[in-house]
Amino acid sequence: MSVEPYIRFEQVSFARGRQRIFDRVNLDIPRGKITAVMGPSGTGKTTLLRLIGGQIKPTRGKVWVNGLDVARARAGELLAMRRRLGFLFQNGALFTDLTAAENVAFPLREHARLPEPLLDRVVALKLNAVGMLDAAESMPSALSGGMARRVALARALALDPELMLYDEPFTGQDPINVGILLRLIASLNRALNLTSVLVSHDVAETLSIADQVIILDQAQIVAAGTPDELRARMGDIPFLQRFLQGAPPDEDSDRALAARTLLAKKLRVSV
Ligand SMILES: Nc1ncnc2c1ncn2[C@@H]1O[C@H](COP(=O)(O)OP(=O)(O)O)[C@@H](O)[C@H]1O
Ligand SMILES: [Mg+2]
Repeated sequence: MSVEPYIRFEQVSFARGRQRIFDRVNLDIPRGKITAVMGPSGTGKTTLLRLIGGQIKPTRGKVWVNGLDVARARAGELLAMRRRLGFLFQNGALFTDLTAAENVAFPLREHARLPEPLLDRVVALKLNAVGMLDAAESMPSALSGGMARRVALARALALDPELMLYDEPFTGQDPINVGILLRLIASLNRALNLTSVLVSHDVAETLSIADQVIILDQAQIVAAGTPDELRARMGDIPFLQRFLQGAPPDEDSDRALAARTLLAKKLRVSV
């Protein structure tokens, strides 16, 4: 039996002035899985996350999140949806004047109104889940970049989200920390039965934990499938091969643009 996807894009277009960022994109993001979103810089990956969070609205088409039509939701419905959503941004900085524990407590104090002893328990659980309980009383300035990112992850998990959006969470991290964060993202997704959308440039690492991969380019989904499916198609699709092997994207010559537009048409897949 097929399960309703957690997120569905239906013919979504999004433009900023005359710039088309998405053009009639169809997309399903399955529940309980990790969906990776990759593509050249400036192609609309962050925009896609903002459409999911309802910070921006599609110019045309619909974005459904857990059955809610995000663009047409009432303020209260949108708020309830966002409470089930955890964000970890590339620059998701911690509050520098609060301890690690107080950073994690922050969204709980804003939204949950728990009695203090219970709040402490929840904070400890979240810090423990990311292996940072020992640093509970540390100030952010005393933490390494990787540790700070893990505390930010604990903070994103504070309100028990169903959906986690990661926007380039590995940027600026050394390979060891990337590995730690990857394993955390994968194990939290399983243990907490989350749905995760992971935007990342680290192709090999991301493919190692993703259930589904979406590659964006030129306002379109140019390829989509499981990591194995994409690897199997690499030979047929030079752009995909270059992209997955980490070569820098083409210069946008007219010919390259035409070739990619053709490719986008050929591969237009709704996952
Ligand atoms: N607030 C904004 N105002 C105007 N243009 C924007 C804004 N945010 C993003 N853009 C433009 O939209 C396009 C997609 O941006 P973005 O989604 O951030 O790309 P990515 O995350 O894939 O690097 C880019 O061309 C960017 O310049
Ligand atoms: Mg971005």
